[in-house]
Amino acid sequence: MTLGDYEVADTALAPRGVKRIDWALSEMPVLGSLLARFAVERPLAGLRVGGCLHITTETANLARVLAAGGADVVLCASNPLSTQDDVAAALVVEHGVRVYAHHGDDTEAYYGRIHRALDHLPNVTLDDGADLVSTVHTERKEVLQHVIGGTEETTTGVIRLRAMAADGALLYPIIAVNDADTKHLFDNRYGTGQSTLDGILRATNFLIAGRVFTVAGYGWCGRGIAMRARGLGANVIVTEVEPVRALEAVMDGFRVMPLLEAAAQSDFIVTATGDKNVLAQPHLEAIKDGCVIANAGHFNVEIELPALERLAVQRAAPRDSVLEYTLADGRRVRLLGEGRLVNLAAAEGHPAAVMDMSFANQALCVVYLKEHHTSLAKRVHPVPREVDKKVARLKLDAMGMAIDTLTEEQSAYLSSWREGT
Ligand SMILES: NC(=O)c1ccc[n+]([C@@H]2O[C@H](COP(=O)([O-])OP(=O)(O)OC[C@H]3O[C@@H](n4cnc5c(N)ncnc54)[C@H](O)[C@@H]3O)[C@@H](O)[C@H]2O)c1
Repeated sequence: MTLGDYEVADTALAPRGVKRIDWALSEMPVLGSLLARFAVERPLAGLRVGGCLHITTETANLARVLAAGGADVVLCASNPLSTQDDVAAALVVEHGVRVYAHHGDDTEAYYGRIHRALDHLPNVTLDDGADLVSTVHTERKEVLQHVIGGTEETTTGVIRLRAMAADGALLYPIIAVNDADTKHLFDNRYGTGQSTLDGILRATNFLIAGRVFTVAGYGWCGRGIAMRARGLGANVIVTEVEPVRALEAVMDGFRVMPLLEAAAQSDFIVTATGDKNVLAQPHLEAIKDGCVIANAGHFNVEIELPALERLAVQRAAPRDSVLEYTLADGRRVRLLGEGRLVNLAAAEGHPAAVMDMSFANQALCVVYLKEHHTSLAKRVHPVPREVDKKVARLKLDAMGMAIDTLTEEQSAYLSSWREGT
């Protein structure tokens, strides 16, 4: 590769990244089976794929699968704090994937690298949060003529893309990988659940047992975080704006109340809503001394950070990934990972075993786009049901689990209306 073809922090970090990527692959049997199959069948030969994804060991294995399938893969980061520099280096040095990503980029550098990835004129975009697609549609329209379609990994990105489609602004088809059952039921719930607690523990090393732990948002991520916090012995409060979700949280055994009430008694508050200013000035004014606040939602807008800066009289950095703000009356608020997704900013993101399914969906959807893009309208499409089922079957196989099969009689019964009492 010629100089200038990538932008990573330090290629000397590659050996560590190579080992970590292989370690993750050992937990990704579905992606591993696709790696072997794609290498033989080369279903993506001649396709340029541009991915704006968290640069983690799991993403590296997705890139390997796509490259084995014949794609020319370019990656940039989907968050300035989620890039693992050793992984970025390994992708460049060992796997021949061009990467534009440095851990800790500021916003300008972050978007600069998205532009560098787009210079390669991708045919398919893989997004996590829709920053790549929105850049193509606003500042890099000349790229559009090369794009046949794209995929979107996360809830927030799907919401943004549906809004674009509703405005008539979306100019190529997107497959909402997030909405596959084999994605959000496992990745958002068990992946975010475990890794968010992992991020909080790595950042603070605080005891969770016996503490009051508030989760804002009881969607797929919030359910997972609440479940895992309870598993560690916390007294968990859930806050919601949707009555059905709130009711579900109550029946799952959690206390439900407005965040203002929860803030005054919480030792930890984690946002997972995809919404903005959820933990805002009034909550910060009421917050309990020493409270740890963190965000697991996609963007760093869920905690009103400017309000925290305004209210604070002092700011210190007692540990990596922790900023401690002292308010005028002496109360301390501990912010983790600068309010960015704490599981990636303060830990390593989701365990590979769940990303195995998310990224198998991604790889199969890229093949689907290559084969079907001419018949897909310029809107957000679900993952084809057969892809979702295939991923589930491959995962069950890999876990050594068999399931029953419908008999002919049962199939007929389940599709008929004539048989009753
Ligand atoms: N950290 C990660 O690795 C990771 C992984 C997957 C998804 N995400 C992101 O996490 C966020 C949540 O995703 P999800 O799949 O759980 O979404 P979801 O739509 O299933 O759930 C979001 C929930 O938040 C609630 N909500 C909205 N505004 C609220 C408010 N002001 N107060 C309380 N609750 C509120 C909604 O009613 C909804 O129930 C998104 O931004 C998504 O992109 C992050």
